[in-house]
Amino acid sequence: MSDNPNTIGGKSFTAVAINCASKAGEWIKSRIGQFAAPDLKFSKHDLVTEVDKGSERLIRNLVATHYPTHSFLGEEGVEPGPEASAQSIAKMGGSEYLWIVDPVDGTTNYVHGFPFYSVSIALAYRGEVIVGVIYDPSRDELFVAEKGKGAYVHGKRMQVSAEPALAQSLLATGFPAEHLSALPRNLKQTLALAPQVRNIRSSGSAALHMAYVAAGRLTGFWEVGLNAWDLAAGALMIAESGGIVTDQNGHPYSLGVRDIAASNGLIHDEFLKALADA
Ligand code: IPD
Ligand code: CA
Ligand code: CA
Repeated sequence: MSDNPNTIGGKSFTAVAINCASKAGEWIKSRIGQFAAPDLKFSKHDLVTEVDKGSERLIRNLVATHYPTHSFLGEEGVEPGPEASAQSIAKMGGSEYLWIVDPVDGTTNYVHGFPFYSVSIALAYRGEVIVGVIYDPSRDELFVAEKGKGAYVHGKRMQVSAEPALAQSLLATGFPAEHLSALPRNLKQTLALAPQVRNIRSSGSAALHMAYVAAGRLTGFWEVGLNAWDLAAGALMIAESGGIVTDQNGHPYSLGVRDIAASNGLIHDEFLKALADA
């Protein structure tokens, strides 16, 4: 290992992550409306297109050019299904360097032409996220976080929002593709939280919602049954912007966490209690 875990031989991991996210994002955007009908993964609510696979291939090849010995976990490289990421993390989570990639987060939006999707890239060093990059090609917004060095959008330091309580909060959530257990739990929580907050958004990209919490555009985000590729980059971003990211029982974020609660920190206890009471 080099002295600084964010460089090898002077090459910055962050620069490589940014290059991968922006190249993949530009390519995804250029393919809008020009791809075959989507395939279904483990359910009719879980879509994948050739663009998801192509974006992952592009990122995997670029990472391998710079760091041939690093491990790589991409959504499209594992078996479909709710437990896939947990199993991969159990196997690969201890790797020295692990790249964790969602090549298109928000595929349903992408397929429908709803401009809210992203590329999410994280690098973990022995299980701890040290770089997180989320790119929104529709707005050309690049969110970047480095462990211990803060998080930035458009080169401007991000800071979570200042709402002091749930009653003043704008939250976001998702509607999980797994309809047996995750969706009903998430819907119950939505019903319970809606009357307690200013409002709730569900825009269809967990990674971008996490970036928006870091940027202070949302007070908090929660969802049941997410995967490491949806969350790892955003979790570092929120922590580096002064927020808190835990599972829904209040345990600190780690790569295996699937039921997420992320916030500006000020509302976190109240938020966790409302989720638990739902
Ligand atoms: C999905 C998005 C969505 C969330 C789903 C995720 P995908 O990821 O993040 O917002 O509600 O649970 O699976 O499939 O578009 O990469
Ligand atoms: Ca995703
Ligand atoms: Ca995806």
